[in-house]
Amino acid sequence: GDVAVVVPAAGAGVRLGPGAPKALRLLDGEPLLVHAVRRAAAAPSVRVIVVAAPAAEVESVRVLLAPIAPVTVVAGGAERQDSVAAALDVVPDDVGIVLVHDAARCLAPADLFESVAAAVRDGADAVIPALPVVDTIKQVATDGTVLGTVDRSVLRAVQTPQGFRLPVLRAAHAAAADLHTDDAGAVEKLGRPVVCVPGSDFALKITRPLDLALATHLLTLA
Ligand code: C5P
Repeated sequence: GDVAVVVPAAGAGVRLGPGAPKALRLLDGEPLLVHAVRRAAAAPSVRVIVVAAPAAEVESVRVLLAPIAPVTVVAGGAERQDSVAAALDVVPDDVGIVLVHDAARCLAPADLFESVAAAVRDGADAVIPALPVVDTIKQVATDGTVLGTVDRSVLRAVQTPQGFRLPVLRAAHAAAADLHTDDAGAVEKLGRPVVCVPGSDFALKITRPLDLALATHLLTLA
């Protein structure tokens, strides 16, 4: 394998309601992070997995993941990008490709890791899985007044795993001055091209309680 997977899993998960850090919430009796790492490890190209866990949970996450796959666990940071940076620091230089994958997208299939990695291997600097937007999207003022309707045919909803040539992501993180919500965003700011591959319905991000219900059902289909 020529691929490292970095898994930011240090978020609190406030939108999911009170409870454990989100990556450690249970889906069908297992933490979201276990589901995510199991699928990443099942992708044949993946050689290294690095997880950024909540600082207080580093040891327990090591124990949790040891039976699933060989994984390096580091402490995450205050923002998602701090967690990604901490994990990126321990990725060996000899992997050509790094995939960044949110623990919250824990049902992203091994095939999706492979298709993103393949697009990087084929020459892209940065690759993101993306789906068409199904809702009509409005631009709205702070008082709720509609300002206009956005042409949704040019919009995409973006998922993880996002794939990069390792030096490109390292450079993007080093240059990132302000907050970005995904890693491709930092690469865009460098002026480097980012390309889309088809996303997966199974790569939904578990954010709100409804998403957990949907994921529970998806598990019965996968
Ligand atoms: O909060 P959100 O769903 O956008 O988080 C996306 C991913 O980033 C989750 O897997 C979460 O655990 C991770 N994260 C992190 N460190 C933070 C905040 C979020 O690793 N400080």
